[in-house]
Amino acid sequence: MLSGFNKSSKVVVLTGAGISAESGLKTFRDNNGLWENHRVEDVATPEAFERNPDVVYRFYNQRRAQLQSPDVKPNAGHYALAKLEEYLEDNFLLITQNVDNLHERAGSKRVLHMHGELLSHRCLSSQIVKSTTEDYDEKSHCDCCDNPSMIRPNIVWFGEMPMFMDEISEALANADIFISAGTSGNVYPAAGFVQQAGLYGAHCVELNLEPSQGFSAFSESHYGPATQVIPNFIESLIK
Ligand code: APR
Repeated sequence: MLSGFNKSSKVVVLTGAGISAESGLKTFRDNNGLWENHRVEDVATPEAFERNPDVVYRFYNQRRAQLQSPDVKPNAGHYALAKLEEYLEDNFLLITQNVDNLHERAGSKRVLHMHGELLSHRCLSSQIVKSTTEDYDEKSHCDCCDNPSMIRPNIVWFGEMPMFMDEISEALANADIFISAGTSGNVYPAAGFVQQAGLYGAHCVELNLEPSQGFSAFSESHYGPATQVIPNFIESLIK
């Protein structure tokens, strides 16, 4: 078990789709998850976008619209992580694989979206990223440069390099505690963060509905819904 937690402890948290499940957003690999209803090869690869951009635009337009529905709101898991950041300030870093904005809506500030974000798009020519809440498609062009070009979802697709890897590696190397919450541990490099942090001496904690692929690498695990296990664990830290 963990001992010696205080305001100067450095905490790195990795979240995945499981933290947003009780907010009404589908996970990827659970029953009726996004990858049960859509083929990855059709909607989430650079090749799919080249072959049939319309299908890809529609997939992300739907997900963006759903994210903005009044029913989708941050839950107790998101709020608990924002509270931990408020306590630790700069000693806290949240890395999320999620492309939703529920962490920010709960008050989290130090958030790295390693797989991109639904509420932004990227110009194919300048690579400039802009916020958007609107649908867009093949006919939508950006006005960011002299060479107005097509825009693409600002999402890291399979086969592409996740974002912020240098910052993430540095944070993992310096972490006293690494917490993984709501992720199945199927997708690298995020699935390997527990080994990376553990190698440098972090106490590694898994908070998930069920044991993830890499469960044996964690020194402590709590299984249950994110809205319970995350607040409970954080309350046990900030007594
Ligand atoms: N509370 C906690 N955990 C939950 C809950 C819940 N209410 N509901 C589901 N889970 C857990 C599942 O048990 C599973 O282990 O969340 C995990 C979700 O796993 P995935 O669907 O694989 O999602 P994630 O790990 O975020 O996927 C990683 O894969 O497809 C890519 O880019 C996509 O970022 C995504 C990446």
